[in-house]
Amino acid sequence: MVARIIDGKLVADRIQDEIASEVQQFVQQHGYPPGLGVVLAGDNPASAQYVRMKRRACERVGFYSLAHTMTVSSTQAEVEDAVQAFNDDPRIHGILVQLPLPKQIQEEPVLQRVSLDKDVDGFHPINVGLLGMKGREPLFTPATPTGCMVLLREAGVTLEGANAVVIGRSNIVGLPVALMLMKANATVTVCHSRTKNMAEIVRQADIVIAAIGQPEYVKGSWLKPGAAVIDVGTNRIDDLSTDKGYRFVGDVEFSSAVEVAGAITKVPGGVGPMTITMLLQNTMKAARRKVV
Ligand code: GUN
Repeated sequence: MVARIIDGKLVADRIQDEIASEVQQFVQQHGYPPGLGVVLAGDNPASAQYVRMKRRACERVGFYSLAHTMTVSSTQAEVEDAVQAFNDDPRIHGILVQLPLPKQIQEEPVLQRVSLDKDVDGFHPINVGLLGMKGREPLFTPATPTGCMVLLREAGVTLEGANAVVIGRSNIVGLPVALMLMKANATVTVCHSRTKNMAEIVRQADIVIAAIGQPEYVKGSWLKPGAAVIDVGTNRIDDLSTDKGYRFVGDVEFSSAVEVAGAITKVPGGVGPMTITMLLQNTMKAARRKVV
């Protein structure tokens, strides 16, 4: 079997087009665009690149965006004050605190400071708690896990009763995507760096979400034939045969997995474009909630 490719770029472009039309209507009705406030502290080049891409996407769909950029030696109070300034700014409907923060900054009080109404990253502990609780719904769900769920639905994958294995338990992806799959009535197993016999567990899975941050970690031989595989990883590896001397690979060994899976995402062009798109969607929702 050769897997069907789940094209995240295609889905993301379509949703971004829909958001762009919605922004036009919003501006006509209200006279101002939805706004995203970005807090970027530190000198992590990957974070700076993500923030550039997110702000460029804002511009493309017609959002206003404003960034508070702080040095690696910024203080807890400076970062929290930047969040508070966005809480108080009526032009800003959604706030993104790019993670990771510099090591001297405690993440939890910063994320708690984000107004629940503006928590478009879905990282406020109350929103995470609501995501985990039966019969409750958070105001916003985190971008990358939401992107994974949209791609599974777009690929026509049945979630109800499916065995889903999540590899990775980070606050940003593994944990929330496991909660979202559980809410969608899948039977969920979370594997991580201490898991024993991971290949055997993955072989039971109808759905695999790979978010462990290790290049090409999941092999095709681990997969149940026909499984749906969502690869969240973006790992830079040296490759002197390319112009740049490097390329990006996922957490799944694509060449072997594509021969066994029923459907699979690529890296790049899979989950990555969806993450940005879901952030835009959450910001649109935050702006709409504000005016109704
Ligand atoms: N760092 C890595 N992924 C993310 C994300 O989705 N949102 C934020 N804020 N920081 C991140």
